[in-house]
Amino acid sequence: MKHLLFYLTIVLTLISCTNTSPEDLEDGTPITGSVKYGADIFPIVESQCLSCHNDNFASGNNSYSSYAQFRVATENGNVIDRITRNVGDQLLMPQGNQLPQNSINLILQWQTDGYLEN
Ligand code: HEC
Repeated sequence: MKHLLFYLTIVLTLISCTNTSPEDLEDGTPITGSVKYGADIFPIVESQCLSCHNDNFASGNNSYSSYAQFRVATENGNVIDRITRNVGDQLLMPQGNQLPQNSINLILQWQTDGYLEN
């Protein structure tokens, strides 16, 4: 009986590790289809970056007011480096904060998918 409980515990632990639980989905909505700037990336940039990175106020000489500007900064600049730094790192963007993991994943997938606009 003791052995049975032991194995049951192991099996249940394994199942709970491999199954997607509601908590996993909260910040990790699965990405379906190609990631597009218009639908997926612009909302992140607008809410998290634009206040400090626009044509009138371009922190670090980076403006993300257009698709082209954000694409260049991601493709040839430091966007990926800055958003994937550890919490507490002075260079982490947005400043003093970290994007939700799902937003970071979307930007990384946008890169993989080839920086689609729409
Ligand atoms: C509260 C203001 C603020 C917000 C919000 C912010 N930044 Fe910045 N960012 C700065 C400042 C100030 C600098 C210049 C200092 C530095 O390099 O760390 C900077 C620099 C950068 C740089 C370096 C530019 C270069 O050419 O090396 C990148 C890349 C960057 N930010 C990306 C982002 C992204 C992406 C977001 C949104 C997810 C964001 N930032 C949000 C203030 C901000």
